[in-house]
Amino acid sequence: MRSINKFLITLSALLLVFASTFAVSAQVNMSKESFGRTADGQEVQLFTLTNKNGMEARIMDYGGIVVSLKVPDRTATLGDVVLGLNRLDDYLKGHPYFGALIGRYGNRIAKGRFTLNGVEYKLAVNNGENHLHGGIKGFDKVVWNAKYVKTTKGEVSLVLTYLSKDGEEGYPGNLDVKVVYTLTNNNELRIDYTATTDKDTVVNLTHHSYFNLKGEGNGDILDHKLTINANRFTPTDAGSIPTGELKSVIGGPFDFTKSTAIGARINQPDQQLQFGKGYDHNYVLNGRMGTVHLAATVFEPTTGRVMEVFTTEPGIQFYTGNFLDGTLTGKSGKVYQQRYGFCLETQHFPDSPNQPKFPTTTLRKGQTMHSTTIYRFSTRK
Ligand code: GLA
Repeated sequence: MRSINKFLITLSALLLVFASTFAVSAQVNMSKESFGRTADGQEVQLFTLTNKNGMEARIMDYGGIVVSLKVPDRTATLGDVVLGLNRLDDYLKGHPYFGALIGRYGNRIAKGRFTLNGVEYKLAVNNGENHLHGGIKGFDKVVWNAKYVKTTKGEVSLVLTYLSKDGEEGYPGNLDVKVVYTLTNNNELRIDYTATTDKDTVVNLTHHSYFNLKGEGNGDILDHKLTINANRFTPTDAGSIPTGELKSVIGGPFDFTKSTAIGARINQPDQQLQFGKGYDHNYVLNGRMGTVHLAATVFEPTTGRVMEVFTTEPGIQFYTGNFLDGTLTGKSGKVYQQRYGFCLETQHFPDSPNQPKFPTTTLRKGQTMHSTTIYRFSTRK
């Protein structure tokens, strides 16, 4: 009798394990479809990744752009929390880096110049007199090699690779870049970056999604409550180039050490806010560079959505969509006005190649650069 009971218990446990495994693999999904062609005829694919909770990311191989990201609110209703456009052509016409991978260098390099090993390199200048987000044709505008894979944990990844040739946009070295987007069953969009070079160079990769946790197009982001785990930021000149100072945020409009509405102080008469037309600044994260640490938390009270940002990077650019001006219409037909999205771009600090006191962005021949960022979604009351 006892052994029959034992047998039945073991059998039902096995069935349970089988059922849950089956349920996971039944729902985790990946598919791809054509999204059109670039001006030079390259075909662009749009990949759809779904996790076991129904969270869905759509990412294209052009620019590694996250086109949509559907996450549940507190009533379990999915909503698309990133700004984006409907058709490839809309992206090709020009947009402010919506959802894109940024490289070789996220944010600005002053006057597009830096010196490495005694050689001065001149980069493409595309933002006033400065170099921004990798230049005229950065990683946001190239078609990456893409394949999707199922991980050993039963999750889905999109593996993107790109070889940036020696001299591209003025940078030295053939840079081999790999970016892996993983949609985890813990409702995370995880991004793993690696890069190697055959000549000493500089590199600073990031991701440029504009988030609105109310759903894209549903108004501005000023009521979102933000915490940034940083006691200091890097103030800039009028051209958004860091002065080199690491300035305390405590007590001023840049202080997000405690959860505060993004809009609470955005219009204060502060010179840094005036330079950025709002927040457009790099924060010096308190967490330890090289280990995954919590950089920021955002809470949207009406939907209950929470986004936590974890990273191995030393900095994060907090940008409040100050240059959005109503000229772009989003995926669901709503016009994107100023401050309809915010970016939290994990990174090394802007202009590091010209700032010897900042953590270095130099990648030596033979070294491998690794970096991880996780956007985790959940809800609360
Ligand atoms: C970054 C920059 C901003 C702006 C946006 C894109 O966040 O810091 O100044 O260029 O990208 O529009």
